[in-house]
Amino acid sequence: MNQRKIGLLLGDEEDWPTAFEALARWMGSTLTYRGETAQIEVERIRIHPFQLSAPTSYNLVIDRLAYWHYQPREWLKKAALVNGVYLLNNPFTFQSMEKHSAYCAMLRLGLHIPDTWLIPPKAAPDTEKYRRTAVKYHDLFNLPDIANEIGYPLFMKPFDGGGWRGVSSVADEAELIKAYDESGQMLMHLQAGLDNFDVFVRSLAIGPQVISLFYDPEQPQHGRYQIRHDFLSAEKGREARIITKVINAFFRWDFNSCEAILKNDILWPIDFANACPDIAITSLHYYFPWAIKSLLAWSLFCTVTRRPMHITMDIAPYFAIADSDLSYEDKLTEYEKLADAHFQTEEFNAFKAEALPQLDEVMWRLAQSEEFDHILVQTVQTTFPPHEHEQYIAHYRGLLRHWVEAEGG
Ligand SMILES: Nc1ncnc2c1ncn2[C@@H]1O[C@H](COP(=O)(O)OP(=O)(O)O)[C@@H](O)[C@H]1O
Ligand SMILES: [Mg+2]
Repeated sequence: MNQRKIGLLLGDEEDWPTAFEALARWMGSTLTYRGETAQIEVERIRIHPFQLSAPTSYNLVIDRLAYWHYQPREWLKKAALVNGVYLLNNPFTFQSMEKHSAYCAMLRLGLHIPDTWLIPPKAAPDTEKYRRTAVKYHDLFNLPDIANEIGYPLFMKPFDGGGWRGVSSVADEAELIKAYDESGQMLMHLQAGLDNFDVFVRSLAIGPQVISLFYDPEQPQHGRYQIRHDFLSAEKGREARIITKVINAFFRWDFNSCEAILKNDILWPIDFANACPDIAITSLHYYFPWAIKSLLAWSLFCTVTRRPMHITMDIAPYFAIADSDLSYEDKLTEYEKLADAHFQTEEFNAFKAEALPQLDEVMWRLAQSEEFDHILVQTVQTTFPPHEHEQYIAHYRGLLRHWVEAEGG
């Protein structure tokens, strides 16, 4: 029988991996697709020294660690190059494509990226070589002039971004100078601030599967994702999903989230390079089961059909569309075709229908089980202070019951 093994490369998360393992177990250890039966195993990956030529038993790895932990990151690269392992995500482009490159590429595709400048770091590296270079070649510049050109309010944030580190909202010149002084050696963007916006939408994408959710960044972590339907018109909802899928196909990312702001009927993507998107049950709540079953479906599709890992990008067809005379809407339609070809959307849907017809129902039953409730309780107990446990356990149980009712009806 065809043995396929999914590895989980994890940090301190317990909630989604436990739910993922449970769903895989509830689905049964074998599946049949096009007459072939595969034996599926899911295992957490251990970290240890490795020989560069060593074989591996994993066929696919879901990575949640490599964005900060370098030894397993290098193991992933070896696994892709030497062993042909499929990786969610692609460490090669995720590490070379920080937020800045992602803005530039999407600007080139004609997406609405807010006006953004890159400024030299406030504090220079303390080396003679840097000082001599700066004296010879750095132009003096007037930061308030740049800010005035962009207009207030604006955001000052690191060019590589992530986890709201070093992000400041800047209302005037005094705040601008203060934020720049505090940025130290970090390389910063100044970006036009989209204030008084209509909707903040965060789209979570796993392969070709995209869900666009109402997001309120002002709330504490557990209140950011909100259960709302129809907060975008059909047209804007489609646009948000296409943009997310296109970004991921362009960079060869499989598992990512995309933040976009809708203001005056224009959808502005502002943050769309998240190597390790948040899928905690305490953040996603109602939408958590969607994430778990989508992650399992895509992982199974990739590993069972032996989808090749796309290490390198193929940007020329995107740029050809970008440079054509098509309208923005027509370009999106063409980009989506490239993204669907990359993600094999049609084959994936056929695979789900044939090999995983019971997936929705199994997730629905799992979400009502004691095993699932235990995951929820444990996560609340490790996330919130003791005096809030009771309140939040009830809160999340309510949200998940709501999902069960909505799906069951
Ligand atoms: N141009 C902008 N307009 C309005 N809000 C912004 C803008 N840029 C960032 N923000 C706000 O700051 C938050 C963090 O910025 P973001 O670019 O998402 O950084 P990170 O990569 O650290 O998440 C966003 O979720 C949003 O609330
Ligand atoms: Mg963000």
